[in-house]
Amino acid sequence: MSMRKRIVVLISGRGSNMTALIAAASNPDYPAEIVGVISDRANAAGLGIAAARGIATKVISRADYSSKEAHDGAIDAALVSFGAEIVALAGYMRILGARFVEKWLGRMINIHPALLPAFKGLDTHARAIRAGIRIHGCTVHFVTLDMDDGPIIAQAAVPVMVGDNEDMLAARVLKAEHRLYPLALGLVAEGKARMEGGRTVLAHFADDADNSTSVVMAPDPLREETDLEHLARITP
Ligand code: GRF
Repeated sequence: MSMRKRIVVLISGRGSNMTALIAAASNPDYPAEIVGVISDRANAAGLGIAAARGIATKVISRADYSSKEAHDGAIDAALVSFGAEIVALAGYMRILGARFVEKWLGRMINIHPALLPAFKGLDTHARAIRAGIRIHGCTVHFVTLDMDDGPIIAQAAVPVMVGDNEDMLAARVLKAEHRLYPLALGLVAEGKARMEGGRTVLAHFADDADNSTSVVMAPDPLREETDLEHLARITP
């Protein structure tokens, strides 16, 4: 019997993080399998990518439901029919209601393109550049009632380079996202990261014989761009 956790990914658009999760899960040693993808938008590019990889997809449009609660209820029903054990939000652009969030609390995670708790909400890269920060990144967290506010599971940092525009910074962060999200989902699927009392508990590392493969580390986005000495010279 397979011990892999059953994951459903919720998307609204491009689906590049979803694609990274599907790629990770194509390794039979990965502790999770992607059993379905749900989009609230029929034209989400990610739907075609998932279908091409043999993953079941479902469109659940807000416009087809009379209320937000009814829409949430339809998504919940689809999750149950997929046999979902963990829900991974990956560019899902709609706020889920309290009832839904409470039902999946501790079993639903999201990726956010900033180092939370900084830059919650939208346009994180433009705001990061405006703020003049030199280190930016991404966060995977448990989803709670307040947006982008749940307990942090893992983060990856990237430098903000002199001369970066929003697109350049977004591309650098996105590369880190594609490495971080599979790592973080794997931790949750293995029970190494779990939500308890409103916090993330990271456990079961010490007794894991080969924990060198599963320690939470920031990916190394510097490797291709520059070296640390160079970064130190340009980072006041
Ligand atoms: C990512 O930047 C993610 O962090 C944010 O929405 C974007 C989705 O991109 N939540 P994609 O659909 O995964 O390509």
